[in-house]
Amino acid sequence: MKNTETITLIDNSTGKKLELPILRPTVGTPTIDVRGLYKELGYFTYDPGFLATASCQSAITYLDGEKGVLRYRGYPIEELAEKSTFLEVCYLLYYGNLPNEKQFDDFQEDIRQHTLLHEALRSFYTGFRRDAHPMGIMVGVVGALSSFFHDHENVHDAKLRQRAAHRLIAKMPTIAAWSYRYAHGLPFMYPQNHLDYASNFLYMMFAMPTEEYTPPPLFVKALDLIMILHADHEQNASTSTVRLTGSSEANPFAAVSAGIASLWGPAHGGANEAVIQMLLDISNSDNDVQHYIDRAKDKTDRFRLMGFGHRIYKNYDPRAVIIRNMCHKILQQLEPGNDYQELFDTAMKIESVALKDDYFKSRNLYPNVDYYSGIILLAMKIPLNMFTVIFALSRTIGWISHWNEMMQDPESRIGRPRQLYSGEELRNYAKLDKR
Ligand code: SDX
Repeated sequence: MKNTETITLIDNSTGKKLELPILRPTVGTPTIDVRGLYKELGYFTYDPGFLATASCQSAITYLDGEKGVLRYRGYPIEELAEKSTFLEVCYLLYYGNLPNEKQFDDFQEDIRQHTLLHEALRSFYTGFRRDAHPMGIMVGVVGALSSFFHDHENVHDAKLRQRAAHRLIAKMPTIAAWSYRYAHGLPFMYPQNHLDYASNFLYMMFAMPTEEYTPPPLFVKALDLIMILHADHEQNASTSTVRLTGSSEANPFAAVSAGIASLWGPAHGGANEAVIQMLLDISNSDNDVQHYIDRAKDKTDRFRLMGFGHRIYKNYDPRAVIIRNMCHKILQQLEPGNDYQELFDTAMKIESVALKDDYFKSRNLYPNVDYYSGIILLAMKIPLNMFTVIFALSRTIGWISHWNEMMQDPESRIGRPRQLYSGEELRNYAKLDKR
């Protein structure tokens, strides 16, 4: 990172000047290196929600919110969505380049060897109530992996980090599918190593020990596409959570468990579930779209148009456009007039009304990745409470790639933000009868 340029800060209260280095990225927004600010001028910076704060250097994913650009390791998401597969994208994100044939064969074989869970982990599921949200099960079971793999205690060993990454990529579909099977009182289906990644997950979700099961090819393609699109997204809330947790040298499974917990929120990964809930509510209210648009604009109403808006994208989320097209393809394969078509039509109507409304236009609020993804998952008979689980399953590769990048970064240190203190300055203890 070149930093020959500087920006001059003048403290008008003391006249003191400070030259701060400007760090230029490969592409995108330059950053001011403020690390000397407190030592030289005695100030912190204040940026709740980190709207203008770079927490790290990263070479994994690039976003341009104004232009609606998303690239994994420099490859446009549109090209990867059309030409790649989720497991190949996993290799790209973790290792930094697309694999050659031997590298990919070896990688896929290693993943296949780690899809099973320790049999003792099965009993973890029976400790949950049958109506437990699968995300709660994921947080618990993934966190528990840290107690099964003690060889991951040394997070500074690249080989052990690689093994943790492969284990997580391989085991997440099994853990996710079993959380669905447990909630529905169904027998656990074991991974089939002859199946590809997406087919294996659908097999473990929907197969029965009593009969043959082959997942519909279009559903396999749609799921693989959804996982590619959700694989990584720079320093989002859950990835930042994994980085902050991992910065204390915590076990990678514990760090990913923290990421799952963060993703669960409706403002983040939980939005895909909330979008469908919103569309169902609208459908059940005689499709009064304008009423919900007005509610979303009403500051006295906590309701937000779920699946709309994004911290970075002030244009269409490129993933939303790709998913909307896949959604259309899936619906065309289904019986005409199916329920999902109605949800899709409602979603399209909301999008068209909102994007003509100044409230949304002036705030650059467009559909994001969560807006259409739920309709595809519903059409695949994946239940609402599994949507964010699919997001977590997909984002695991992003989380673990950022964790691995951080553990190699010489500038990385334990994350410990400061604050703008607004409490009482000093008070002395008063006895009870004196208060
Ligand atoms: C994901 O960071 C990532 O990269 C996340 C993600 C990933 O891949 O990891 O892309 C995945 O989390 C997508 C986002 C999913 N969440 C939702 O769809 C929930 C609905 N969206 C919002 O809650 C909101 O848009 C956020 C949380 C996504 C972004 O919030 P910001 O950047 O903090 O924006 P903001 O809340 O400051 O909103 C700016 C203005 C406000 O109005 P004013 O104060 O200017 O009057 O826009 C309004 C907000 O009230 N606004 C909305 C809105 N989103 C923002 N108003 C109505 N409906 C909405 N959805």
